[in-house]
Amino acid sequence: MIAESPCGQSKDATLMMVLAKPAPLPNPDGTTSHSTKPASGQVAGYPPQRTPLSNSLDETTSHSTRLQTTAAKSLVIPQAGERTNEKGNLESSGEETNDRCANLSLHLADENATIALAQRLAARLKPGMVIYLRGDLGAGKTTLVRGMLNALGYGGRVKSPTYTLVEPYHAAGLDLRHFDLYRLRDEDEWEAAGFRDEFDGQNIFFIEWPENAQGLIPHADMEIAFEILEQGRNTEIHANTEIGKQCLKQL
Ligand SMILES: Nc1ncnc2c1ncn2[C@@H]1O[C@H](COP(=O)(O)OP(=O)(O)O)[C@@H](O)[C@H]1O
Ligand SMILES: [Mg+2]
Repeated sequence: MIAESPCGQSKDATLMMVLAKPAPLPNPDGTTSHSTKPASGQVAGYPPQRTPLSNSLDETTSHSTRLQTTAAKSLVIPQAGERTNEKGNLESSGEETNDRCANLSLHLADENATIALAQRLAARLKPGMVIYLRGDLGAGKTTLVRGMLNALGYGGRVKSPTYTLVEPYHAAGLDLRHFDLYRLRDEDEWEAAGFRDEFDGQNIFFIEWPENAQGLIPHADMEIAFEILEQGRNTEIHANTEIGKQCLKQL
């Protein structure tokens, strides 16, 4: 029997997230071996109005994601309130939240796992969504954005907007903005660059170092925090809004 989660999502449907990692080859003896805040203040007019997404993006991208990720090692995607350990096995986080659809903890064993997560997220993006990306330098924020853009069919180079602060993209009929605010100096720089006008309720935003623009950027629909481990990364995904929760529960 398929168990229903509190989010109306079947357990089975959430179990298969696949890494683009080759399956282990059998040894001669028959065994197998593995190679080895948001803005506290709000800008007037935020949150922006959103228009409903056409179903086609969901369908086409989900489908291609599945195609791209078959024939590889499976990664358990836990229900909200559960988490995976370093071996990718499901275990309870032991944390009860008020809303079990709003939080997800994942262990991403390697870069391919980050890209696999990006592919899942890409299929569920909606116009106007704002996603904060937190974590130290080198944690995997840009890797996740690159993975999402590539999954949407963007074939060009996705470079870190370290000095430009923002890079615009158009893919799969969506307008996307990738901000890296590590070097944002102050509000004057923000206003002078015209960034305020970017938040039109249609563009999708991935914002690295959102804490550097508190009070200037809209609240996040979803926040993804990366923690660097000796092996891989821990990610904590938190949905703040209904649109974020919808995205999270479909992951
Ligand atoms: N799950 C993961 N486990 C280990 N290494 C990872 C993982 N995801 C990404 N990486 C690597 O970590 C680095 C992250 O760089 P980047 O995405 O630019 O970080 P950030 O944007 O957070 O500063 C890259 O070298 C990438 O290959
Ligand atoms: Mg980066």
